[in-house]
Amino acid sequence: LKLAVLISGGGSNLKALIEAAMNPEYPAEIVCVGSDTDAAGLAHAAAAGVPSFVVRPSDYASRAEWGAALAAAIRDFEVDLVVSAGLMRILPAEFVSEFSPALINTHPALLPLFPGAHAVRDALAAGATETGVTVHIIDEGVDTGPVLRQAAVSIRAGEPEAELHERIKAEERPLLVDTVRAIAEGSLNLAAVAAAHQ
Ligand code: GRF
Repeated sequence: LKLAVLISGGGSNLKALIEAAMNPEYPAEIVCVGSDTDAAGLAHAAAAGVPSFVVRPSDYASRAEWGAALAAAIRDFEVDLVVSAGLMRILPAEFVSEFSPALINTHPALLPLFPGAHAVRDALAAGATETGVTVHIIDEGVDTGPVLRQAAVSIRAGEPEAELHERIKAEERPLLVDTVRAIAEGSLNLAAVAAAHQ
């Protein structure tokens, strides 16, 4: 399975996928796409010899044009799956309709709870005792697509956001690696999940 991993930040999820793919048993070949030139995660790709390229929103006049450039770059790699892992940008509708359902995202909350860009902070602010992580198909909404996998993480009272997010990521990384493996092996059929979700 050839996959493009979209990142904007530190890329620890990307790193987990790269490390998994180092095992010849793990059926994935990765390219990395950064949305920002200073995305630290690009260093993980470079260190592993994983092809990476950057398509910066600030280089384009509109989200739609950025999306079109992103789609063109990914299309050139002829990937089977696009994985958004810490992409802090909303993908335009044209991009989603081109790649979904072979377009998944990982989100640091138990969707539909706490959608959006501040899921960890929102769970803490809500006084929740539990949150978690969701891997889902990206559909035309924001954090609304069919759920593929979830894992729960307890919240410790008064826990700092960064600490909770790290504990969520500890669950998130293996969950994402396992979800991609299931897709690659065919035991998880994205088209079937998307069709059932209509
Ligand atoms: C992940 O927790 C992801 O769910 C969220 O942003 C975080 C990115 O972490 N959208 P990293 O860049 O993979 O370390």
